[in-house]
Amino acid sequence: MNESISATAIEQTICDRATVKVMSETDLPVREVRAEVERLIAAAGWAPFHRPCDAIHQSSNELSAIEPWRMYALDACACRRLRQRLPPENAGKLPTMLSAADALIQVTWLPNRASEVARPSGIPQANSPLFDATIENMEHIAATAAAIQNLLLVATSMGIRNYWSSGGALREPQVFHWLNIPADQILLGSVFLFGPPHDSAVAVGSKLREKRSKHKLWMRWIELPPDSP
Ligand SMILES: Cc1cc2nc3c(=O)[nH]c(=O)nc-3n(C[C@H](O)[C@H](O)[C@H](O)COP(=O)(O)O)c2cc1C
Repeated sequence: MNESISATAIEQTICDRATVKVMSETDLPVREVRAEVERLIAAAGWAPFHRPCDAIHQSSNELSAIEPWRMYALDACACRRLRQRLPPENAGKLPTMLSAADALIQVTWLPNRASEVARPSGIPQANSPLFDATIENMEHIAATAAAIQNLLLVATSMGIRNYWSSGGALREPQVFHWLNIPADQILLGSVFLFGPPHDSAVAVGSKLREKRSKHKLWMRWIELPPDSP
């Protein structure tokens, strides 16, 4: 195989990507980064995806694409306003990150219509699963995760600090309502993008990064003997 410089650069970017959570008690100055954010999102959209999303998602709101994900971007100004609305009691560190972020991208994936068997009324019941456990849905999630990773890698290569959060309080129906995100979409990540270090902000990494294993601990070659005649 030919080893190119760009392959090395890509590997380096993959290794350099790291969770960075930037927190500030007070609002950091708003920086205009919409062009950069759209560049990251456009790159994210080159992720592989196996199937178009269910037709219900292609006609449900103004975003009618076949991709199994949707991305909703908040600039720094919108982040600061969202902080004001979030009840602090169960928001953890999110308010301080909303005060620090240059942007937040709510990334959802689009589950296929629930089967009649799973939801006879068509409406999710209390304690019913979020979505049908089908291969198709698994692949929609996988494609959306690939899109998020694309975004994080390009952000890393541009020196933009980033954090993929499960969302916590940002998953709440009330937040979806504020942001006008359809309730039949499922949040896969709240992606925070942060600017350069600032005196009134602190930055912390993740807990698992140092515990990563060597790949030989989670992969093995398969040796198959030739078929006997
Ligand atoms: C689907 C997903 C959800 C995550 N959610 C959170 C989260 O809610 N809080 C958090 O601290 N880290 C979250 N992370 C980041 C991981 O904790 C982090 O990637 C891991 O600790 C490895 O660290 P690294 O990203 O610095 O390599 C999430 C990562 C993924 C892939």
